[in-house]
Amino acid sequence: MKNVGIFYGSSTGNTESAAEQIQKEFGEDIAHIYDVTDASSKDIEQYSNLIFGSSTWGIGDMQDDFDVFLSKIQKANLKDKKVAIFGFGDQDTYSDSFVDAIGLIYKALENKVCEVVGKIPTDGYEYDESKAEIDGQFVGLPLDEENQSNLSDERITKWVEQLKNQFN
Ligand SMILES: Cc1cc2nc3c(=O)[nH]c(=O)nc-3n(C[C@H](O)[C@H](O)[C@H](O)COP(=O)(O)O)c2cc1C
Repeated sequence: MKNVGIFYGSSTGNTESAAEQIQKEFGEDIAHIYDVTDASSKDIEQYSNLIFGSSTWGIGDMQDDFDVFLSKIQKANLKDKKVAIFGFGDQDTYSDSFVDAIGLIYKALENKVCEVVGKIPTDGYEYDESKAEIDGQFVGLPLDEENQSNLSDERITKWVEQLKNQFN
């Protein structure tokens, strides 16, 4: 498998911890990790496979640093790249905007020539509305530290196995 760049925005450390676990599961030799506050379009372009991670804040907003980083994704050449998205949210307190950031990142990639992989079924989550749900599936991996922290490890492991089959 070709190299993997993991770019995350995290306010209280949840998305950061998951990004580190994802890196470990791919292996630190092929997967590199970036806090988006220190990352550029050139950093993005180095990788054949990309993982973007953002928690959701406000009511359905992207995490602040990731919001700024989005313009760098827009400027980057993503031709032939595979992209996967993950993010933290709270399906109980924010049931109408659960992990919306995943959906916002997906929408931002729609006009780019890359392929989004790592979509998963919505089974096992309980929420009212999510911009991350498109055509009956999540367009990335939702994680929920507030309500389902016990499921995160196995969700990440399963998702990384899926990505190993879908990445370049
Ligand atoms: C003020 C506030 C607003 C939030 N808004 C949302 C939201 O709209 N949708 C959602 O799914 N989660 C929301 N959350 C939950 C966070 O996304 C969650 O706590 C997440 O684990 C934070 O991840 P981070 O530490 O990587 O930033 C909110 C949390 C707070 C405290």
